[in-house]
Amino acid sequence: MAYSEAKVLIGGLVHIPIVIGIFWLIDRRIGKRFLTEKLAKENKAKAKSGAAAKAKEEAPENAIAQKATSKENLAKKAHPVVPVNTYKPRTPFLGTVLENYSLLKDGAIGRVNHITFDLSGGDPQLKYVEGQSIGIIPEGEDAKGKPHKIRLYSIASTRHGDNMAGSTVSLCVRQLQYEKDGETINGVCSSYLCDIAPGAKIKITGPVGKEMLLPEDENANIIMLATGTGIAPMRAYLRRMFEPKEKEKNNWNFKGKAWLFMGAPKTANLLYDADFEHYKSQFPDNFRYTKAISREQNNIKGGRMYIQDRVLEHADEIFSLIEDPKTYIYLCGLKGMEPGIDEALISAASAKGLDWIELRSKLKKAKRWNVETY
Ligand code: FAD
Ligand code: A2P
Repeated sequence: MAYSEAKVLIGGLVHIPIVIGIFWLIDRRIGKRFLTEKLAKENKAKAKSGAAAKAKEEAPENAIAQKATSKENLAKKAHPVVPVNTYKPRTPFLGTVLENYSLLKDGAIGRVNHITFDLSGGDPQLKYVEGQSIGIIPEGEDAKGKPHKIRLYSIASTRHGDNMAGSTVSLCVRQLQYEKDGETINGVCSSYLCDIAPGAKIKITGPVGKEMLLPEDENANIIMLATGTGIAPMRAYLRRMFEPKEKEKNNWNFKGKAWLFMGAPKTANLLYDADFEHYKSQFPDNFRYTKAISREQNNIKGGRMYIQDRVLEHADEIFSLIEDPKTYIYLCGLKGMEPGIDEALISAASAKGLDWIELRSKLKKAKRWNVETY
């Protein structure tokens, strides 16, 4: 008995390494399987992200937008501190009208004026940069007997003002007029502004807006799409770029390409046209000026010539410029022009295999697509 017990014990002990060996083998096999699965998973993930990156590279609108590197964004962010709401509606600045004159030639439609206000004596001084707007509170009361509300106007002068003294601001205002029930209705604030006489005091608020600021980069390309009074910020940009006194004072030597598309109903309605023609003659390599005169020119379909028709005509050049990460686009004026511009760019982009809406949103994120319409 004692013998057989010892036998069993020895026999059992002998099996221990065999059992360990079996477990070791199982462990290795399972471990290997897990490892293989893990590696396979990792490879799959790598392949997926690689494919995504490749797809990203291959989508041309992404490639264009990716070029909007943080460097370009920095160029825009590096703009010196932008003043905002120095004067609020409850405590507006009381400016003085310096001049108010018509911008239109004989035979023009409607009424559009250039109006300049003296901002001196403000404490604090109302300062602004190109691309911002100010608020105007018209005199009088509304139909409910309450003081009129603020109306915003894009600033048409540079930060130095038209007289370079740094203490004025200029606007470009179209009088709103429309017919209702056989009666002509005049807009409250635009009529107040177009009628205001030099010497009068006026309530000014702001400045506001950071959407339409110019990049600091002297080599940036600036495409401007304006209808009517949407020319106001563009005038400020172009003065900053091409007026000799401005260039000297800014110590900013614009070397890029500026291209203005301007929409007006008649030649007599073109705003600041002589100044822009002058810049074109002085800086032919840096400034292009393309006009769409809706009531005098026809588009290829025989309809009114709008700026979007001009955009279509020059789509190739525009897209070549957009491919350059230093190109910024600015739209200002009639809200109604936005769908037309998009339509033109959608068809121009699709001819190049690009998805405009996707590209536009990427350009917007990179602060290269800037819109102020009203
Ligand atoms: P209101 O007396 O306020 O009348 C306007 C109202 O009239 C409308 O709200 C609508 O209810 C009605 N109305 C208008 N047209 C018609 C119509 N055809 N039929 C029936 N009802 C109608 N304007 C410029 O001239 N120059 C600028 O540089 C400029 N920049 C702007 C910048 C920004 C950011 C914004 C938001 C607006 C800008 N405007 C500019 C527009 C400006 O703020 C005023 O809206 C415009 O001058 C009209 O104001 P109003 O007081 O004369 O008209
Ligand atoms: P039109 O009025 O002939 O239809 P203004 O402010 O001086 O009237 O100028 C605005 C210009 O913009 C005009 O030439 C006007 O043409 C044009 N315009 C009007 N509607 C649109 C639109 N949807 N897209 C582009 N331009 C437009």
